[in-house]
Amino acid sequence: MRLDKFLTSLGKATRSEGGKLIRQGKVLVNGAVQKSPDFKIDPDSDTITLSGEVLTYKKYTYIMLNKPEGYVSATDDEKEKTVLDLVDPQDRRRGLFPCGRLDKNTLGLVILTNDGDGAHRVLSPKHHVEKIYKFISRDPVSENDIKALESGVDIGGYLTKPCEIKMTSECEGEITLIEGKYHQIKRMLEAVNNKIVYLERITFGNIQLDPSLKRGEWRYLTPDEEEIFK
Ligand code: URA
Repeated sequence: MRLDKFLTSLGKATRSEGGKLIRQGKVLVNGAVQKSPDFKIDPDSDTITLSGEVLTYKKYTYIMLNKPEGYVSATDDEKEKTVLDLVDPQDRRRGLFPCGRLDKNTLGLVILTNDGDGAHRVLSPKHHVEKIYKFISRDPVSENDIKALESGVDIGGYLTKPCEIKMTSECEGEITLIEGKYHQIKRMLEAVNNKIVYLERITFGNIQLDPSLKRGEWRYLTPDEEEIFK
């Protein structure tokens, strides 16, 4: 792996910043200054330091994105803007994909990663990873609707798994799901003759959408947040 790419993969710098740090002599490979950004290293056996800090190679990248409206949850699309368009090109090159899908008009928390096994695990209903969505419905949601939705409704041949709903007003609330079928919440509300007019994911397991991220902004997950993928 190139030395500058190694720094980028840790989120320590963009490729150009990494190149600069290397040329400035701030990066040591096995104790020796290495000034070529394209110098090849073995991240598993070489010891790399940046300004004295030993850097440990991270095999996988995990990014939290605050998804705006109008982006599809895909890696590429002929017509539409994708969530990958919102991150740095060097991260895109690391093979990131969205861990689960949000609809084009759904907002909020999307995790991007290149950890296929980890993503598979957290998305499987078997592992009961809860995702919380804020929603606004067209019509008031009644007590009976809540009971039906919480115990499971038919969304076109599929009976949804039990979920939890907390209403904060007649038409606004939070729904906690452990599964993610296509258009699931929209179809659930349709099953009780209602309609979703606003949907935003605010948590994914232990990971909460960082309130400091504006729509379209992203950051790397912290080590604590990454635990869910281990
Ligand atoms: N349910 C939906 O209907 N849409 C989403 O984007 C996520 C969950």
